[in-house]
Amino acid sequence: MLIFPDQNFFFMSHKIGRSSFGDPANAGNLLSIEEAHALLNEWVPNERLRLHMKQVAAVMKAWALEKENADETTARKWELAGLLHDADWEKYPDEHCRIIIEELEKRNIDPEVIHCIASHGPNYFGVEPESTMDRMIYAFDELSGFVHAAALIRPTRYEGLEVKSVLKRLKSPAFAAQVSREDINDAVSRTNYSLEELIQFIIDHQKDVN
Ligand SMILES: [Fe+2]
Repeated sequence: MLIFPDQNFFFMSHKIGRSSFGDPANAGNLLSIEEAHALLNEWVPNERLRLHMKQVAAVMKAWALEKENADETTARKWELAGLLHDADWEKYPDEHCRIIIEELEKRNIDPEVIHCIASHGPNYFGVEPESTMDRMIYAFDELSGFVHAAALIRPTRYEGLEVKSVLKRLKSPAFAAQVSREDINDAVSRTNYSLEELIQFIIDHQKDVN
């Protein structure tokens, strides 16, 4: 899930219909970041959609390292989930995110990464976030897109962007109206952090992604 300021895409709900993903025997089997970028370049021609995934990936990786004390492999899981979570949306909008899940299962990827992608929109895909990684991608996904939209309308973009101005936009139903404030509140309530803390973290870690 994400938003585009000019909203070229629209999104429908597709229940995945299962709750178990991948093979536990594949634990620790990950794509390299280069392989994930190659997949993105092939599957996602839209630059803005690719940027969204890179932003969520940067925030996820930074969170794992800074807040979860993650080792390098774990941080790569978080980054990969962010990089690939919407990878099938542009080409297979009616089957998002079943196609990317099946692709990663075919490639024998770690089930934690696949579950994380499957649960990034529980109200749409019907898969509940379980791990901390699952809960954080759910919180960061919509919020990352929203923060980016709030930055894009400013002449100086991220420069000087403050949490309070993002909060003000959130309270204005007309701004990025397609973003469900209910989903954001639901996602944030599943973390141990405040909306303000998450917004600040997103601003700090996605501002230089391009
Ligand atoms: Fe997304």
